[in-house]
Amino acid sequence: MIKGVIFDLDGVLLFTDKYHYMAWKTLADKLDIPFDEKVNNRLRGVSRMDSLNIILSYSNQTFSEAEKEVMAEEKNELYREYLRKMTPADVSDETRSVLVKLRDKGIKLAIGSSSKNTPLILEKTDMAKYFHAVSDGNNITRSKPDPEVFLKAAEYLNFKPCECIVVEDAEAGIDAGNDGGFITVGIGCAEYYDKTKKPIKRLAELLKLI
Ligand code: BG6
Ligand code: MG
Repeated sequence: MIKGVIFDLDGVLLFTDKYHYMAWKTLADKLDIPFDEKVNNRLRGVSRMDSLNIILSYSNQTFSEAEKEVMAEEKNELYREYLRKMTPADVSDETRSVLVKLRDKGIKLAIGSSSKNTPLILEKTDMAKYFHAVSDGNNITRSKPDPEVFLKAAEYLNFKPCECIVVEDAEAGIDAGNDGGFITVGIGCAEYYDKTKKPIKRLAELLKLI
């Protein structure tokens, strides 16, 4: 029986994945590194530094750790400029309605995101009120595909992984969910991933699975 749903944030509940793309694109263009949506899909669910390392693997230059720190910080500042402009109107009616309906059914909800910017995003969009627990980039030591972020979310909800659904748009997130023993639901890019247990096209389809 499903007792909890753990949502990835970027690309599942919000379109902040576009802002990640735009910020990385600005940095990649500056460094003259080829970067497109296909490369960007490899960054979904992956931590900031791991994402930067993937982007830099397309360059023939090498960079010191200190230089990489500066680049990651620069990208984050560009990204946060977009986030600061977000408002509650950036949450779709469908997303709000799904969250409210799940809560009304007695399902406990959590965030399971690799992002350290989760608190800012939840604040700007007024979404924190829907969630019983938040597990994010600030409370983990290993990023997806490691299941840590979801295991912590399940622990905060007081449920076993098999009692929770994980909703993801990232292959790394589906791998993390499967590895942790969760039921994985894939949307967006993850709809087409062969390891996704239950693919959906729209978030509202989640209601039929519970
Ligand atoms: C994930 C995104 O949610 O968070 C990744 O899918 C991102 O693209 C990661 O790199 C870390 O985000 P942040 O906000 O801590 O840089
Ligand atoms: Mg995502």
